[in-house]
Amino acid sequence: MSENVFASFSRTRMRRNRQSAWVRDMVREHHLQASDLIWPVFVHEGQGEIPVQAMPGVYRFGLDVLAERVKAARDLGIPAVALFPSVPAEKKDEAGTEAFNADNLMCRAIALLKEQVPGIGVIADVALDPYTSHGQDGVVRSGKILNDETVLQLCKQAGVLAEAGADVVAPSDMMDGRIGAIRDALDANGFQDVLILSYAAKYASALYGPFREAVGSAQALGSADKRTYQMDAGNSDEALREAELDVAEGADMLMVKPGIVYLDIVQRLADAFTTPVFAYHVSGEYAMIKAAAEKGWVDEKAVVLEKLLACKRAGARGVLTYHAVDVAGWLAE
Ligand code: PBG
Repeated sequence: MSENVFASFSRTRMRRNRQSAWVRDMVREHHLQASDLIWPVFVHEGQGEIPVQAMPGVYRFGLDVLAERVKAARDLGIPAVALFPSVPAEKKDEAGTEAFNADNLMCRAIALLKEQVPGIGVIADVALDPYTSHGQDGVVRSGKILNDETVLQLCKQAGVLAEAGADVVAPSDMMDGRIGAIRDALDANGFQDVLILSYAAKYASALYGPFREAVGSAQALGSADKRTYQMDAGNSDEALREAELDVAEGADMLMVKPGIVYLDIVQRLADAFTTPVFAYHVSGEYAMIKAAAEKGWVDEKAVVLEKLLACKRAGARGVLTYHAVDVAGWLAE
């Protein structure tokens, strides 16, 4: 048998492009860079940092340390932070009225960052759950989460956040019609330039547990769930409808949440819309990696980099991730 036999079926050798690092680097389709990372940051009313139990390495920052931490992230090339408040139980009520107190923790945190950390984008969460005594994202009456009443509150909330200096408001509540209503409310008050990042496809997921501990809504929520407004995990076409509505109502950016488990949705939205799509690598996804890494069962850095690159490959323009600062550091090595 002549050696040419082998040559005949191996004219195309896929492995040629993989044989060394330089060529792999040269032909790679997708890349992860610091500018892809949005860092979700928890703030609390007190001083210093308080660890989040189910998220090793994640802290709620007091306003005394916040600017310094965010500066460090900015200096690593992270373009924006997404702020979430941990609100003390005594400030929560049925209607979540603290959400539109113009001097609330979020507003003070935003003003501080805008003053002390020039160049960082500040994304402010719009939803009532950190502020309600029942932990739901909306106004509740007779056990129902009321859509239109909630949207009115969200407009007020978006208004105080914009007034405080938020660059982006990010409604994460999944009420119908809130993007258009918030856009109109912002525009009517002179905030035409404030962006709206819509959590367009947000699923009722079991992966939000550690986040709910961090903002203190877990206890308030108890055994209740959010299935009457967040999406059902079995649906995919519905995500397209949600995104279509939000784009028509004026969303500047779209979010899919959770991220990794819903990369099919990220891809469908990225294919269907020219509006930038982001993925939220949520708290439960973070916690699982940390737990396995602590046990020595997976290589944290390698797993995180691979997962975030997978978000890019699926079509995400960027990723919200609690790993952001670590990743930006690794990328700079
Ligand atoms: C609620 C909100 C949640 C998250 C962000 N905003 C949780 C929820 O819907 O109960 C979860 C983020 C995460 O798990 O990292 N407005």
